[in-house]
Amino acid sequence: MAAGVVLRPSWREAGYLATPALLAVAALWLVGQLAILPALLAVLATAGLALGLAAWRARDLARLARWLDGVGSAAGDPPPEIGPPLDAVVQPLVEVGRAVRRQRAELAGQRRLIEAVLGRLPDPVLLIGRERVIRLANPAAERSFGGSLVGLPLGRAVRDPTVTAAVTAAIETGSNSTVTFSPAADRLKQFAAHVGPVPLEDGATGVLMTFREQSEQVLIERMRSDFVANASHEIRTPLAAIHGLIETLQGPARDDAAAREAFLDTMAQETARMTRLVDDLLSLSRIELAAHQPPTERCDVDRVLASVVDRMRPLAAKRRVRLEYVDGEPLPPVLADTDQLHQLFVNLIDNAIKYGGGKPVRIEAEARAAAPADAGGVSGRPCVVVAVVDRGDGIAAEHIPRLTERFYRVDKARSRGQGGTGLGLAIVKHIVRRHGGHLEITSQLGKGSRFTVYLPCAG
Ligand SMILES: Nc1ncnc2c1ncn2[C@@H]1O[C@H](COP(=O)(O)OP(=O)(O)OP(=O)(O)O)[C@@H](O)[C@H]1O
Ligand SMILES: [Mg+2]
Repeated sequence: MAAGVVLRPSWREAGYLATPALLAVAALWLVGQLAILPALLAVLATAGLALGLAAWRARDLARLARWLDGVGSAAGDPPPEIGPPLDAVVQPLVEVGRAVRRQRAELAGQRRLIEAVLGRLPDPVLLIGRERVIRLANPAAERSFGGSLVGLPLGRAVRDPTVTAAVTAAIETGSNSTVTFSPAADRLKQFAAHVGPVPLEDGATGVLMTFREQSEQVLIERMRSDFVANASHEIRTPLAAIHGLIETLQGPARDDAAAREAFLDTMAQETARMTRLVDDLLSLSRIELAAHQPPTERCDVDRVLASVVDRMRPLAAKRRVRLEYVDGEPLPPVLADTDQLHQLFVNLIDNAIKYGGGKPVRIEAEARAAAPADAGGVSGRPCVVVAVVDRGDGIAAEHIPRLTERFYRVDKARSRGQGGTGLGLAIVKHIVRRHGGHLEITSQLGKGSRFTVYLPCAG
């Protein structure tokens, strides 16, 4: 019924109301107690009164009709007061109306609660109804599978034969299953989907699908197996070389003194490289273990740098590389692990000497009131900036983001030839990270490279 309903007074009701009075007037007129004129006036007055009463009743009923019509609305207007005798009929209607209103409010509340819970779930959830149409999709599902999904066929959100088979099994045999798949739009992602039947309100079988993204686990697993493969390869290469040399020494070169000398030298180099590799791996795992314990020692970066430069001078001299470091103004202290800071600068200066093409290597250090905006966690904070600058061949842009990966080398043969393990910059990255700092690598082919470390000053 429309909300603006107006009921007209009923002629029949007016007739019922007027009948007794009209009969009395007619009787009085018949027995001669009433003249024709007053009798007509009495009839008119009675009819008017009856119509008025019927209109009054119609207005009450219209108010009731409007109230019942608004039962579904949120506003809880009180029901209209209807006098006797109709209130005996109206009261049960009012009770029904009240109950409906309460139930609708409860349903709306429950719906809001379900939507809030689904909205909060970090994992995607889909409810599939008849004809495999998506009935419900939480925001996580819309983020993962794209756009508004409700009303679309499941295949538009997740198109994967294993998922389709699991949904069919849930509908036809009521079975629960968990399947893994990668969305067609992003093959690097992986989800585990739990698929199970749920009864729909009309008795049909729907399917509830809950998803868990496993991309990170898959990535970690891939990195772990890559790491094991790389580490084994790095160890197997020198081992194979040593093994070959031993066999040659036991066989054809048994009595060749010159070959023996040369082979022993190579074997010593290879074992030294293996020892360095194991040492680097151990120090990487030690740094990673302490990754979440920020260093607490107050440390003077200029003193560490002076000691590292002294230590590196013999290697630089051997390769005829000049180390340029001016120990100028004292720098403000930083919170650091002195040994790790040592290792960080040794690795950077060692690279600059090795890959700097024999040209001078400059080490710059200064204090800054605020690190630049792109300096990660240090940006905007007072910091000490150390840069190791060489004028070597430089590094092509596509290699730069990968340099800090374990075992990543631009030129494998050249690095190995220099005795490198490919772990130096990975160690640098982890040390900088543990110190809450930032590492910036810039390079120009043919001109050289600059490795800049930002370390936050001690508060
Ligand atoms: N200053 C630099 N100039 C040019 N290339 C560099 C420079 N520093 C590093 N690289 C490149 O980055 C790669 C990774 O460096 P990293 O220090 O991690 O390993 P490495 O020097 O090969 O071995 P390690 O440091 O363990 O002895 C190097 O193999 C080299 O190709
Ligand atoms: Mg190195």
